[in-house]
Amino acid sequence: MASKYWDGQLAAHYRDFRYAFPERTLAGRVIVVAGGTGGLGAATVALLAREGARLVVGYRINRQRAQELARAIEEQFQNKITLVEGDISSPAVRQAYQDAVASLGAPLQGAAIFPGDPARAKLESLDRDALVASLEANYVGPVLLARDLGAVIEQGDAGGGLVLLATMQAVAPFESSLNYAAPKAALVHAARILVRQWRRVRVNVVAPGATVAGMAEASVSAGKYDSFVENRTIPRFGRPEDVARAVRFFLEPDNYITGQVLVVDGGLTLRR
Ligand SMILES: NC(=O)c1ccc[n+]([C@@H]2O[C@H](COP(=O)([O-])OP(=O)(O)OC[C@H]3O[C@@H](n4cnc5c(N)ncnc54)[C@H](OP(=O)(O)O)[C@@H]3O)[C@@H](O)[C@H]2O)c1
Repeated sequence: MASKYWDGQLAAHYRDFRYAFPERTLAGRVIVVAGGTGGLGAATVALLAREGARLVVGYRINRQRAQELARAIEEQFQNKITLVEGDISSPAVRQAYQDAVASLGAPLQGAAIFPGDPARAKLESLDRDALVASLEANYVGPVLLARDLGAVIEQGDAGGGLVLLATMQAVAPFESSLNYAAPKAALVHAARILVRQWRRVRVNVVAPGATVAGMAEASVSAGKYDSFVENRTIPRFGRPEDVARAVRFFLEPDNYITGQVLVVDGGLTLRR
């Protein structure tokens, strides 16, 4: 007897080599991009806006840049994004994200959580304040927002995906990265635990490498990572579009992957 989950029609399609690869799967879907005005988040906003997603875009303080991004997105893609200002560690700000979603009148189907802080600190001068501040920026805020938005997605019929942003330094040990990378590694583990909490929410992590925009821009432009290109460890530096495509992949409504880390580093962690 066939399984009650067996789809005979689908099986017939495959026997005929007919497959479904839907396009523009995010058009019309409500997606949150927290930290979406930053170097990497803004490229993700652009990619999703081009496809017609309805976007709630968060930032902490830089309102001017947020408004410039909103103007650019409207000009380039005729897509009006909704902005949310404030620190995601605040319950009121996290509520503001949920209110913005509710105002769009359609279920939330995805969220990408970009906020983070490079938390640079030499091991010798590392103190309690620096450790706590990094934990707050790179772990506490993102986890609480993931918890809140995941619960909203779980309530909807369609389910959806959460994407957390870590770093290549969270999956491979780099000297002097303790203060930044260890809370990001905790975020990776949190993602896997969150997978177990819900049934309709997929949770994945994107871990960028040395990327030319955002918080690594100053280091990359100053030549800190030149040797990786010179000795052909990586073919080039990462671009914000590389990260955006990885995030979009996990946000696709028919994506079948959860609890995974996608390292977008051009091979740096394996070849260095
Ligand atoms: N750029 C890279 O090469 C790289 C490499 C590895 C990993 N990453 C990770 O990728 C993520 C994005 O990096 P990025 O380079 O795009 O950073 P970024 O340019 O500094 O942008 C950060 C974004 O998050 C917002 N933000 C920061 N803290 C926040 C908070 N507490 N509450 C609400 N919003 C907050 C910022 O808003 P305001 O500007 O208004 O403060 C901005 O929109 C980070 O988690 C980072 O650790 C980046």
